[in-house]
Amino acid sequence: MPVVYNFNAGPSILPAEVLTQASQAILDFNQTGLSILEIGHRTPLFQAVLDEAVALVKDLMKLDSDHEVLFLHGGATTQFFQVPMNLLNEQESAAYLDCGVWGSKAIKEARLFGGVEIVASSKDKNYTYIPKGFSIPKSAKYFHYTTNNTIEGTELFEIPETEVPLVADMSSDILSRDMDFNRFALIYAGAQKNIGAAGVNMVVLRKDILGKVTRKLPGMMDYRQHIEAGSMLNTPPVFAIYVCLLTLRWLKHLGGVAAIETLNRRKADALYQALDQLPMFRPTVAREDRSRMNVVFVMEDPVLEKAFLERCKQEGMVGIKGHRSVGGFRVSLYNALGLDSVNALTGLMQDFAQKHG
Ligand SMILES: Cc1ncc(COP(=O)(O)O)c(C=O)c1O
Repeated sequence: MPVVYNFNAGPSILPAEVLTQASQAILDFNQTGLSILEIGHRTPLFQAVLDEAVALVKDLMKLDSDHEVLFLHGGATTQFFQVPMNLLNEQESAAYLDCGVWGSKAIKEARLFGGVEIVASSKDKNYTYIPKGFSIPKSAKYFHYTTNNTIEGTELFEIPETEVPLVADMSSDILSRDMDFNRFALIYAGAQKNIGAAGVNMVVLRKDILGKVTRKLPGMMDYRQHIEAGSMLNTPPVFAIYVCLLTLRWLKHLGGVAAIETLNRRKADALYQALDQLPMFRPTVAREDRSRMNVVFVMEDPVLEKAFLERCKQEGMVGIKGHRSVGGFRVSLYNALGLDSVNALTGLMQDFAQKHG
């Protein structure tokens, strides 16, 4: 197989051993003679998968007993409306931070269910920074923000100080760095970046925030019913959850969230350092808000972008083209990506700068 450096933004790189184990389970799951794709979700075989995945999430995130872990369908996009549907009455309002394309989509959906107060926005500068010094009204039912803006490449490292229940979209930096996850009332994340395969969404939530809205909820939209049914209200995405389990085991074996944070810092530091040293390249976001997961940059001479992209392609580097709304480049450095991939890219950048500078 040719050497490929996978910088895809999501679905994205998974640990090699996870891919090997998942392939094996497709052929023969736990020596049962059955494929993981062929087993019933209500069997002890799958129940053990789900139970271990939930236990690993609780362990890796150091969750207290008030927090529940769910694996649901519909991706993070479903959470954009499932959150307000469950937490916000029509006459109430929730506070939102508008700091990226994904967050703005969450705001649009929340408005279908109640009032939305935008506490701050960085839309004025194309979401290239994280607004600071905003205050969250005490009357808000919850405060929602995106911890890492996948498209724009900014990350909010401090958890805002507030008594208002915190809700976070952690789709692109979940389990990538240590933080006090217990401070959140609700966390959601699509699995396809740091947790596993596309098709499942992880939701971590505190039960006491539920049951306060007056509207009637369809069963599949009601977190309480999912908790009651242990994420098995209907057929769960069995294989996607299994890939999550394998990835969570891999992370635990590596030393957990603190260990991966050390590696993630090294990768991001190496790449930003190269970008800062080579005048040909220019990171697009405010220095203090630079994401460790998605590094976004452009070239001072846009004419060279095509040649750079072509060179990356020749060297087996995939997924670095920037999002269509930003342009330039986006390099994603999720948990499973090794430092060797970053070193290969920075080496290529230095060589390219020498030849074209
Ligand atoms: C921060 C963030 N939120 C939400 C989404 C949407 O996720 P999904 O496609 O799983 O609905 C993404 C997808 O990349 C994302 O990066």
